[in-house]
Amino acid sequence: VVRRVNEGGDMKKILVISIGAGDPEHITVQAINALNATDVFFVLDKGEAAHDLLRLREEICARYIAGRSYRTVRAEDPRRDRKAGDYGGAVERWHHDRAALFEALIRDELKDGECGAFLVWGDPSLYDSTLRILAEVTERGAVRFDYEVIPGVSSAHVLAAAHRIPLNRIGQPVHFTTGRRVVDEIAADPGDCVVFLDDGSALAALADRDLDIFWGAYLGTPRQILISGHLNEVAATILETRRSARQEAGWIMDLYLLRRCRAG
Ligand SMILES: C[S@@+](CC[C@H](N)C(=O)[O-])C[C@H]1O[C@@H](n2cnc3c(N)ncnc32)[C@H](O)[C@@H]1O
Repeated sequence: VVRRVNEGGDMKKILVISIGAGDPEHITVQAINALNATDVFFVLDKGEAAHDLLRLREEICARYIAGRSYRTVRAEDPRRDRKAGDYGGAVERWHHDRAALFEALIRDELKDGECGAFLVWGDPSLYDSTLRILAEVTERGAVRFDYEVIPGVSSAHVLAAAHRIPLNRIGQPVHFTTGRRVVDEIAADPGDCVVFLDDGSALAALADRDLDIFWGAYLGTPRQILISGHLNEVAATILETRRSARQEAGWIMDLYLLRRCRAG
């Protein structure tokens, strides 16, 4: 596939813009320029816990868009069936529903030659479905549009910076994974692991392992909490801190690096 910059003429254009992982100052100059080129922002309402996150998106638009009018189109994000036994199938159905929604938004809310944007938390390449869905919409072929990705600061990088550590040790690999998988994967010694999307169960299951942990919640925001140490000494504190912080805020986002306790 050969793609050149500025292909497309008066084709509809979608920008997938990273807004960083919590601090409005994570945003890049490229992202600010992309915000200022956008006619329509598509905002997917994820309900309940996402209010602080919606507020950050609004703050970013208000702060960085200068002297330009734009429209905001809100749509309800299709719900994923979290009770379905078949996790892969449920996620696939959810992606189809979201692809149909994206297709309708691009078809009905964007004029030819206009630019629409999805603002993505952290970097769009990590545990985010926006790019997969846009690829599916392109494949369906019902609407013609071009799209571009503006990379940004991932929560993994904010975690490393907050703890003042590199993610990898010298010449060693780093494994990016989820709470759903890490307990099984760690047995195969994949190297140091950055664990996204753990509801606390994986951490509880790994609590007595001979690992160091660098944990962070609400990274980049005024609520940020950091805890590090040997897992069997700090796991209980992390789980209790996680529980009470979540209760107080009504939502939580946390991730951690697990590192084998050995020199290097
Ligand atoms: C759907 S993934 C999106 C990851 C995002 N694309 C990134 O690059 O950071 C959401 C998960 O990322 C992690 N995460 C994102 N932002 C975070 C933050 N500010 N503080 C702590 N964890 C965060 C959490 O593990 C959360 O469950």
